[in-house]
Amino acid sequence: MKFFADTANLDEIKSAASLGILDGVTTNPSLVAKEGGVDFKEHILKICEILNNPKASVSAEAVSTEYESMIKEGRELAKIHPCVYVKLPMTRAGLQATHTLASEGIRVNQTLIFNAGQALMSAKAGARFVSPFVGRLDDIGQDGMVLIQEIREIFDNYDFECEILVASIRGPLHAINAARLGADIATMPVKVMDQMLKHPLTDNGLASFLKDWENRGK
Ligand code: G3P
Repeated sequence: MKFFADTANLDEIKSAASLGILDGVTTNPSLVAKEGGVDFKEHILKICEILNNPKASVSAEAVSTEYESMIKEGRELAKIHPCVYVKLPMTRAGLQATHTLASEGIRVNQTLIFNAGQALMSAKAGARFVSPFVGRLDDIGQDGMVLIQEIREIFDNYDFECEILVASIRGPLHAINAARLGADIATMPVKVMDQMLKHPLTDNGLASFLKDWENRGK
């Protein structure tokens, strides 16, 4: 499973990259806005440079909503760096733009996926990633993981060149359950990566080993 950091904060990205298990970064307009008045394209370029890995993926989201402007914006975003995936919303225009950009060799991450039909249509249009938002489904009382299971089942029936990128992850259990279901990618806040690597028994065990070592008979 690939791990992506779901943030536009450069310090958080550097911190996650230092773990040695970071495969990419996803951003969205809300996350970029949190960084203040940064130049969007320059900021995406900085993220690509931090990852410094030709196999890494950095999702940059278009903010246009009409087909023509989406493909224009998508082409511009794709030029920023070879690692860029253009993120487009799962709307009628977004699906059409995905098909056009995919036919030009531009990789698209179709975002705001909330049901399996949307994921299927997006994969057929040529998206390389579909991003189902599990946390936001949980928020409205639907089990986001059921959607991951459904998409996995559908994609396993066919040969789409499309990966399941589980988004809107809110805690370690989301990431673990996504991995158990065979999702290809989990994008998560860096805070969740920090939570995942910790266990109180690891800390207590280490403290007790070190104490016993100090008190060993010499
Ligand atoms: O990047 C999109 C997604 O991960 C957003 O998550 O927590 O705002 O639902 P959240």
